[in-house]
Amino acid sequence: MLTTVNVTESIYYIGVNDRDTHLFENLWPLDKGVSYNSYLIKDEKVAVFDTVKNTKVNEYVEKIHSILGDQPVDYLIINHMEPDHSGAIKALKARYPDLQLVGNKKTFEILENFYGPMDSYLVVEEGDTLSLGFHELMFIMTPMVHWPETMMTYEVKEKVLFSGDAFGGFGSLDGGVFDDEVNLEFYMDETRRYYSNIVGKYGAMVQKALKKVKDSGIEISIISPTHGPVWRTSPEMIIHYYDRWSRAATEEGVVIAYGSMYGNTQQMADLIARRLSERGIKNIRIYDASKTHMSYIISDLWRFKGVVLGSCAYNTGLFPTMETLVGKIENSQLKDRYLGIFGTSSWSGGGVSSLNKFAEKIKWQQVGESVEALSSPKEAQFIKCHEIADEMADLLLKERKPGRNAFSSPIY
Ligand code: FEO
Repeated sequence: MLTTVNVTESIYYIGVNDRDTHLFENLWPLDKGVSYNSYLIKDEKVAVFDTVKNTKVNEYVEKIHSILGDQPVDYLIINHMEPDHSGAIKALKARYPDLQLVGNKKTFEILENFYGPMDSYLVVEEGDTLSLGFHELMFIMTPMVHWPETMMTYEVKEKVLFSGDAFGGFGSLDGGVFDDEVNLEFYMDETRRYYSNIVGKYGAMVQKALKKVKDSGIEISIISPTHGPVWRTSPEMIIHYYDRWSRAATEEGVVIAYGSMYGNTQQMADLIARRLSERGIKNIRIYDASKTHMSYIISDLWRFKGVVLGSCAYNTGLFPTMETLVGKIENSQLKDRYLGIFGTSSWSGGGVSSLNKFAEKIKWQQVGESVEALSSPKEAQFIKCHEIADEMADLLLKERKPGRNAFSSPIY
């Protein structure tokens, strides 16, 4: 028997889990899977909200059939065209030939680019409504959260926001579907990893979307995103964190990421971390960029104010895993961090000088002077590493709010 779950009496969760794909977008590790969420409203008319990846079509179509039997689906609301959500459109259209596809102008351009021309388009614009009988849908355009065609759909009577990628995260839904049924610590970590790596670059557009939803005065009882848990108990909590993440708001802590071939650059990372700890900084995360996938490092960069990057020289340039990480940071346009730089040269330089170029472009506030050791760090470089840590700690401690330390309230 297939699992379908009632979100309300007449709104169903019909999503599927993907535990077999290794990399989301063939790039981001899915150690704990991912869910492709879809929803169905059964009313005088039947509407489905987004679909699933094409590898999950059979299970998905059977779920719909188990709810509707021979009753057809009247509308498919396409909030987002990325193929993890549009992969079953063709299959639905084949099964329900009278199905009307509902999206905006851009939606159908992208749809035809991916899947070729289809018929029965219903083009909607900002604020348009569509009645299903009792339920009434209202469309809110939210471009670039995450693609140009992205929109959200609000169900007026039960106050449910179908939000697309927004408020969604990695992690398959293993039994629990709602925020009150799952371990939130895990899902909030995976939601931040999703946000920072997939949507983070478009923080300004997320802010615009949040403002639009707030200014519209709509009341939200349930947020139904296309990945991760359904937020029925604390929709305001996930809105709060989305607001924080899209403003690049931070908490106290330092991420140290390095590329090291033979442990000399790593030694400098440990030295900086120890000094930070002696100065009272508790959230310190050291990552070897060759081992930890950049998505986890980026997720922590979104969380903490301090960043220290280190690299040995490799063929006259940055160590390759650091090059990938630094390129992703630059592309993500993350703002307003404190930055320290360290590393080693050997028969050539190139690591630290490349990080210095990165510093010029990213325009974060640099702490201490960039320090480069020749092959292995010695007393002069130890002192400079301490200076980086000291300046970083000074700045972070100055910002610490009175009566509060890094552990006084849960921040995801
Ligand atoms: Fe979940 Fe932008 O796709």
